[in-house]
Amino acid sequence: MSSKNFGIYIHIPFCAKKCNYCDFISFENKNNLIEKYINALKEEMEKFDFSKCEVTTIYLGGGTPSYIKQNYIIEILELLKNKLVNNKTKWEDIEITIEVNPGTVTKEKLEAYKASGINRLSIGLQSTNDKLLKQIGRIHTYNEFLNTYNIAKEIGFNNINVDLMIALPNQTIRRYKRKFRKNNRVKT
Ligand SMILES: C[S@@+](CC[C@H](N)C(=O)[O-])C[C@H]1O[C@@H](n2cnc3c(N)ncnc32)[C@H](O)[C@@H]1O
Ligand code: SF4
Repeated sequence: MSSKNFGIYIHIPFCAKKCNYCDFISFENKNNLIEKYINALKEEMEKFDFSKCEVTTIYLGGGTPSYIKQNYIIEILELLKNKLVNNKTKWEDIEITIEVNPGTVTKEKLEAYKASGINRLSIGLQSTNDKLLKQIGRIHTYNEFLNTYNIAKEIGFNNINVDLMIALPNQTIRRYKRKFRKNNRVKT
């Protein structure tokens, strides 16, 4: 049987704090379950037969994967790398993404992600307006996002997605465009 293109999605359902708008399966105050969950994930991945799939993407989403200790992320990726030794697409050519909340990530974590093969970041920003960020329950400011983004670029990530939301409370298209233009300070 020929192999099929295959994307692996790994859900990390833990967050530092639940945002007011979020519909994802994610929990705050469940730190006691993190290790148990990661062990269960690894057990399931260990059992999975990847021989008939050609894995081309791996996506660590959540929840907030950047909230948990970097070692858990490294362990997950090491296990997958070993499972995929015979994968047609080489490990270096697989697109590997991790979702990052600027309030939970450090330079050390980003460096560990890079070293473990992650080559794409998806950073949750939502808005460039600090007042609005607070209102929707985010744990970071726009400047903290900029700091995360700039460190990521410095480390060598050149595939970075940024999540923005529209139709937030009191947000009009005119105000959104004005604020976005004024605050658009990222180097691409
Ligand atoms: C899992 S989160 C991204 C990573 C991280 N947890 C964070 O929030 O920074 C995925 C993205 O989905 C979007 N999102 C979450 N809840 C949503 C909702 N109810 N409606 C639309 N978009 C939502 C946000 O833009 C968020 O960044
Ligand atoms: S940090 Fe992300 S996953 Fe967690 S509650 Fe906020 S939007 Fe949802």
